[in-house]
Amino acid sequence: MGNALVTGAAGFLGSHLCERLLEDGVEVLGIDALTDYYDERIKLSNLSRCLEFESFRFLRKDLNSIELGGLLETVETVFHLAAQPGVRASWGREFRVYLDANVAATQKLLEAARGLADPPRIVYSSSSSVYGETTSLPMREDHLPRPHSPYGVTKLAAEHLCRLYHRNHGLPCVSLRYFTVYGPRQRPDMAFHRFFAAILAGEPIEVYGDGTQTRDFTYVDDAVRANLQARDYTGSEEVFNIGGGSRVSLNEAIETVYHILSRPPDVRHADPVRGDVSHTWADTARARSELGFEPRVALREGLEKQLAWHERLGTPKGEDA
Ligand code: UGA
Repeated sequence: MGNALVTGAAGFLGSHLCERLLEDGVEVLGIDALTDYYDERIKLSNLSRCLEFESFRFLRKDLNSIELGGLLETVETVFHLAAQPGVRASWGREFRVYLDANVAATQKLLEAARGLADPPRIVYSSSSSVYGETTSLPMREDHLPRPHSPYGVTKLAAEHLCRLYHRNHGLPCVSLRYFTVYGPRQRPDMAFHRFFAAILAGEPIEVYGDGTQTRDFTYVDDAVRANLQARDYTGSEEVFNIGGGSRVSLNEAIETVYHILSRPPDVRHADPVRGDVSHTWADTARARSELGFEPRVALREGLEKQLAWHERLGTPKGEDA
């Protein structure tokens, strides 16, 4: 079944993708720097099932400080998920970290790949945050991207790098723009993780702004499947929206969360956070027709699965994690 390199293997989506590849019989090399964006123990526990496979190797390394050429020589596909995540934390001095992790590391990977006689296919994990604050909804791949956060700028820059290495050097690259992925192992800074952790601790949840912002929430298994479809894609498109088809307001999502838990809502409002966009909504026509992408998990079912994970682990709240 070939072999793959997964960067950011210990992260939320990366660890799910590794598991799926290993179950499919793919040999996987996972690389992750285990940065301190959140507790490395969470990331290591994300990898626990992968480490049961003999076909899994793990390297704790920063892409910016290793020699990549040799590693890529025998790899058929690189799933490039390593990044400094988080829309709201990318201001100020932190931006340097985003530039290094999201832009410089991607350029280094692309350079190393293009030097090979038989370069790997690269599936880059981009983000709906490239679109920014727009009234053109649903968001389509051919709309002009105008990020609203420094994070979004770095994700778009890396996506452009993938495209131009494709066009100039024939490197086979595609970018997947995910829309707010959720499910078991979701990052501790993300909304549903924080909400479940707070509710299970008997505390109110904190909503930034009035909760009328909308998101096209995407269940993690659907995002994993999109990666496999992008790996196998032979057409000429370079960018795809990957949305879950569950676009709702945050208030509606919160209602579902409390309904699942059979508890009365306990919500506190805080100021909106700079960099957050008001709405996301994926037009997935291209992903459907070109990749055969079809989201399968609706919001309520996905939230129930994420809740079951929180209950199993007794996951601590993000900021305490
Ligand atoms: C998420 C990821 O964090 C990004 O890495 C990813 O690139 C992006 O999705 C994407 O789709 O491109 P975000 O949509 O902000 O970003 O996802 P959440 O952190 O789950 O937040 C969803 C909404 O809930 C946002 O409006 C946020 O302001 C709000 N929120 C979040 C709260 O009201 N309270 C919280 O405690 C956390």
